[in-house]
Amino acid sequence: MLDINEIQTITHDVIVVGAGGAGLRAAIECSRQGLDCGVVCKSLLGKAHTVMAEGGAAAALGNVDSRDNWKIHFRDTMRGGKFLNQWRMAELHAKQAPDRIRELEEWGAVFDRTKDGLIAQRNFGGHRYPRLAHTGDRTGLELIRTLQDKGVHSGLSVHMECTVLDLLKDGDRIAGMVGYWRETGRFVIFRAKAIIFATGGGGKGWRITSNSWEYTGDGQGMAYRAGAELMDMEFCQFHPTGMVWPPSVRGILVTEGVRGEGGILKNSEGKRFMYNYIPDRFKAETADTEEEAARWLAGDKNARRPPELLTRDVVARAIVQEVKAGRGSTNGGAYLDIGSQRPAEYIKKKLPSMYHQFKELAEVDITKEPMQVGPTFHYMMGGIRVDADSQMTKVPGLFACGECAAGLHGANRLGGNSLSDLLVFGRLAGVGAKEFIDANSDLPAVDHEQAKRIIRSATDILNREDGENPYVIHEALRDVNQDCVGIYRTAEGLAEGVEKQRELAARAKNVKAYGTSQYNAGWHEALDLPNLFCISEAIARSALMREESRGGHTRVDFEGERAEWSKVNIICYQGDNGEMIVEKVERGPEPEHLSKIARATLEELEGSNA
Ligand code: FUM
Repeated sequence: MLDINEIQTITHDVIVVGAGGAGLRAAIECSRQGLDCGVVCKSLLGKAHTVMAEGGAAAALGNVDSRDNWKIHFRDTMRGGKFLNQWRMAELHAKQAPDRIRELEEWGAVFDRTKDGLIAQRNFGGHRYPRLAHTGDRTGLELIRTLQDKGVHSGLSVHMECTVLDLLKDGDRIAGMVGYWRETGRFVIFRAKAIIFATGGGGKGWRITSNSWEYTGDGQGMAYRAGAELMDMEFCQFHPTGMVWPPSVRGILVTEGVRGEGGILKNSEGKRFMYNYIPDRFKAETADTEEEAARWLAGDKNARRPPELLTRDVVARAIVQEVKAGRGSTNGGAYLDIGSQRPAEYIKKKLPSMYHQFKELAEVDITKEPMQVGPTFHYMMGGIRVDADSQMTKVPGLFACGECAAGLHGANRLGGNSLSDLLVFGRLAGVGAKEFIDANSDLPAVDHEQAKRIIRSATDILNREDGENPYVIHEALRDVNQDCVGIYRTAEGLAEGVEKQRELAARAKNVKAYGTSQYNAGWHEALDLPNLFCISEAIARSALMREESRGGHTRVDFEGERAEWSKVNIICYQGDNGEMIVEKVERGPEPEHLSKIARATLEELEGSNA
């Protein structure tokens, strides 16, 4: 007989799930606010997808080009997101990012410097000015290192290698969660007055991805089952430059910093093809001749930026088009060449990880030879719907920040905006949790029946006599999503994807893991599946509903942006019968003061940081 009183129970004021940049920043804030804070992470502390934001953190410090300011950063973010971003989130982000970077420096982050000793900033796609504070091409790593150090000294309790299975509620309010220690397989109940999800994305649902094994949509799945809404799920970011060869490393990220430092893209005919793919919206700001691009590389501040620095959605589609037209690289991508643009010493200094990555994994010396690159699933713009200022979800006491939350990036995220996103909104989630706890100071009760249901559904996987292999189901799902819910989408393909996802989800109900619960990788794999199916369905069905092409959602059968779709976001939530409901929500009128900034010309905004 399962007795919940015998299950290990850990109690904190607030628990943060996820120890990437957003989770750590949120936890540090909780601690600063005087809360007793626990951090639960699926992997080891310091092992987070944050490190895959290699090229830098975007913040309008204006250190390299003093014309930059928060308004231009805000404008770039809205334009990059194709005006589907939550206005208030984009405003908070652009205004607060510089302070978060300076604060990080005070906490010990070592950024590259300008000649004058200021934090150096590099160019990135969609950012009008050099804006990315960076540490070579290891910025995410430096950020995690700094936050980890600060966090440990802030008195956080860290619970590592612990996977959370589902949330517990007391009435409408969050009361805690049930998890298991990956090593022993033993269950644990966490109790808290508030919970902050910072669990990242779900790229492991796709065949080709830059994400590592932890990224299975856990936060989105659990929040959905607890009654929160998911929003903008159709918008998936395929980073244009992942490794394409050798097959064992396919999808590993090649930082946009390579293009930021002057790298150019070429097809098999040796042509710099991005000139053919400049969208009207960006024509005024993009160099359309090699001569102007060369002036930009030489440091001419009046030259327009090269087309390789268009937003990621545009560059990823262009590479696919070139490959489709028979002009791909020998292994089915494009050639990314930095060696002809910068001296070897410069490349090794600014892009040391890329230099070693290609030397060791592909036997390519990037100072002499081009890299072969192609799109890789990198980031989800969609996620848990939150209040812009507090980051609270629809479920009282449940907060979300970083990649698992939706809103800041709209239809497409600009590179570098994720690191500043997680700093800004990690902090705000901590402040939000404090305010919530001040108003709701009692510890909610744990409902034993809920906890039992969660535990039993996990142990059923071990206890049934026979069943489906979880690895086979996961691999099949990755293929379905890659083929039917990829960069280019059609109604037919998406409908087929939804159907195949349903068939696989039905089979996954009967999944079987052999052996005991101790360090059982097959069981862990099986336990991740419900979350992967949740995000997969939400993405495919939202993509089917949105009959237009915008940012990271391209419908071959509905080309271009459509005015009526600029007025709505799509949300997904669980209906009373357990089925997923997908529906449109009106965005309401544009806030006048922000709309004016987002639609202003650069000249109108330069030098005005008020
Ligand atoms: O390309 C990169 O370095 C990735 C950055 C990001 O996703 O923000």
